Amino acid sequence: MIIAIDGPAASGKGTIARSLAAHFGLPHLDTGLLYRAVGAKALADHVDFEDEAALAQLAGALNLAALDPEALKSGAVGEAASRVAVLPQVRAKLLTLQQDFACQPSGAVLDGRDIGTVIAPEAEVKIFVTATPEARAERRYRELAGRGEPVTYEQVLADILRRDERDSGRASAPLIRAADAVVLDNTALGRDASIARALEIVAARTGR
Ligand code: CDP
Ligand code: CDP
Repeated sequence: MIIAIDGPAASGKGTIARSLAAHFGLPHLDTGLLYRAVGAKALADHVDFEDEAALAQLAGALNLAALDPEALKSGAVGEAASRVAVLPQVRAKLLTLQQDFACQPSGAVLDGRDIGTVIAPEAEVKIFVTATPEARAERRYRELAGRGEPVTYEQVLADILRRDERDSGRASAPLIRAADAVVLDNTALGRDASIARALEIVAARTGR
């Protein structure tokens, strides 16, 4: 069983993906971490964000096993990730890794922006997780402020709106709901209710 979870920034994709993976005993890949890792490396190495070939080289050299999610959570890295993610050569370098993960015999859960449309269009279950920008900004603000980042709610909201527009507006694998994805709007749902709704969607699609 392949479960594809897509949605905009801080919609709760990761929370749902991790819970479904644990529930069904499936491996999970947060594909945003790949783009975050390329963005972080580009910032650290002062690579020009217009230099597609150099950024694609960073993407090609990525070692999945060596990624440290905790080091990639900052707002600056999220912004850098969305800038490298518009580049087709960068996306191409990360494609096989993600498709190999999706096609493991065990099945898998992947979350990102283009899982149901590009990475695993054949997925049995596709969920498009969303919430209002204000609800998402509130969640992300709490996370970043809790980690000690000096941000305001207004800055986080502006960052999220800018990233939404870039992710949805790009030509290469834009953030868009797959025609066969079920929408899960969790604006008014807490974490547990949102997970329960995702389990209902899986059950309705697969009987599991
Ligand atoms: O956690 P959050 O939703 O804020 O971001 P993320 O999932 O870690 O993704 C960071 C950035 O990577 C996004 O803004 C996208 O531009 C890009 N991304 C993508 O293009 N395709 C994916 N499958 C996953 C992430
Ligand atoms: O992966 P994505 O960036 O879409 O979001 P996430 O990391 O799963 O969730 C972002 C934050 O929102 C986390 O701190 C979650 O606990 C929280 N959240 C929430 O408050 N209500 C929900 N229904 C889902 C997530």
